[in-house]
Amino acid sequence: MASALTQADLSQSPLPKAGARCVLVLLGASGDLTKRKLVPALFNLAKANLLPDNFAILGVAFDELSVEQFRERVTSFLQSDGKGSDALESFKQRLYYQRADFGDSAMYPALQKRLGELDQQYNTEGNYLFYLATAPKFFGQIVQQLGQSQLSKQENGRWRRVVIEKPFGHDLESARSLNRQIKAVLAENQIYRIDHYLGKETVQNILVFRFDNAIFEPIWNRRYIDHVQITNAETVGVEQRGGYFDTAGTLRDMVPNHVMQLLSLTAMESPVSFQADSVRDEQAKVLHAVQLLDSEAVLHDSVRGQYGDGVVGGDRVPSYRTEPGVSPESRTETFVALKLNIDNWRWVGVPFYLRTGKRLTQRHTEITIQFKKTPFELFRNAPVKKHSNKLVIQIQPVEGISLSFGAKIPGPILRVGSVDMSFEYSKYFGEDAYTGYEVLLYDCMIGDATLFQRADMVEAGWSIVDPMLDIWTALPPRKFPNYSAGSWGPKESDELLQRDGREWRTIE
Ligand code: BG6
Repeated sequence: MASALTQADLSQSPLPKAGARCVLVLLGASGDLTKRKLVPALFNLAKANLLPDNFAILGVAFDELSVEQFRERVTSFLQSDGKGSDALESFKQRLYYQRADFGDSAMYPALQKRLGELDQQYNTEGNYLFYLATAPKFFGQIVQQLGQSQLSKQENGRWRRVVIEKPFGHDLESARSLNRQIKAVLAENQIYRIDHYLGKETVQNILVFRFDNAIFEPIWNRRYIDHVQITNAETVGVEQRGGYFDTAGTLRDMVPNHVMQLLSLTAMESPVSFQADSVRDEQAKVLHAVQLLDSEAVLHDSVRGQYGDGVVGGDRVPSYRTEPGVSPESRTETFVALKLNIDNWRWVGVPFYLRTGKRLTQRHTEITIQFKKTPFELFRNAPVKKHSNKLVIQIQPVEGISLSFGAKIPGPILRVGSVDMSFEYSKYFGEDAYTGYEVLLYDCMIGDATLFQRADMVEAGWSIVDPMLDIWTALPPRKFPNYSAGSWGPKESDELLQRDGREWRTIE
């Protein structure tokens, strides 16, 4: 395929500057997130010269480790690429470690002392970025202690920022309470609530696609759009996280955060600028416009499922209830489908169908904008292969956008078929090896909160799922498991659309 953008075009774009000088304090440095995402992302930033010269990383965790052992452990988290290189050596030299128990208030004076030393050594001007990659039960407590020990205090031009991982609460009330707790210590502009979906290229590209192209905006509304589908399908089960997942479930784990990010970026109005609060104001506004489901709507418009055993990618996999850490009688859902409506002029009458689940037939995340039919069917008597105008924004694993439309099939008889115009990221820009956390870490360092959730957005996400949590808890499911691993979820998910004369887009 011919590429409109050449390498020369790309190399002409201005290079970003390295992030601001600081010490990054990685609380939870022996956890899975640090290993799988944060360390590779930091190393990618180092290789791209996007870490400042005045920069150090202080890992903090419960394990008894020397600095040397920590450095070795971190290196082992990296793929073979870059091993033994100068970049890795210099990255390694900036790693430090402090053992600590997050619940113990004595840890904070020790942390303060250690940070003071690193600040001197690296001349970081007192700027500290605290990354809370710990168990969620510590979030409130750590922030409180950072406040008490003055570690969160910004003065004389130095900044202090705190990144908070998900899950941010387990329902609306707990999210509000956590917000109250951390806002008693930190100003909103010191808080960076992470949703890693905002680190994905194609998710950020929704903004560029919608607001840097004039051709779609006039049709991006109820006059031309029939409905929207968001699918987030995973092939993995609960892996080693059965203990956590069995108390959370897919609704909490995926919907108020990741799925709502996709919905808000698709449905929001154009922000007045690309400043963090302009973008987030519009996202929050549209989330507040989502119609809250009453109990009848919960029963009618939401579907839950749990996987039984089955075959995924050719391999036999066990049922959810036999996964490690999961109760054999578990009623926790591993699949959710729902229909939401948005009460504003742009979207009234346009349903948003959402589905997300584990152990589905393939890993696939996409947003489908399904356009309305032509007002008059000129070719109704021609043999027509069923087609419709759809715009599909593919988030993963393939990243791209495609537009389907009807075209005449060559030949003497008039026949119409469906064709696609598609763009694939990797074909234009090449494969990238980023984890998605690079941009988020970099943005925290430069103080850009556009890709982070504000308190009102998090609470709006929880308000949407709260009625479902209540009804689902009050009425436990009777027929779990109700879908086989390797399928597209329970049949009720298909029925949710069939009732409205629609169907999920076929994903091949
Ligand atoms: C996490 C959830 O936030 O997102 C996981 O806790 C889920 O259960 C994951 O698997 C999905 O992320 P991604 O980037 O693989 O789509």
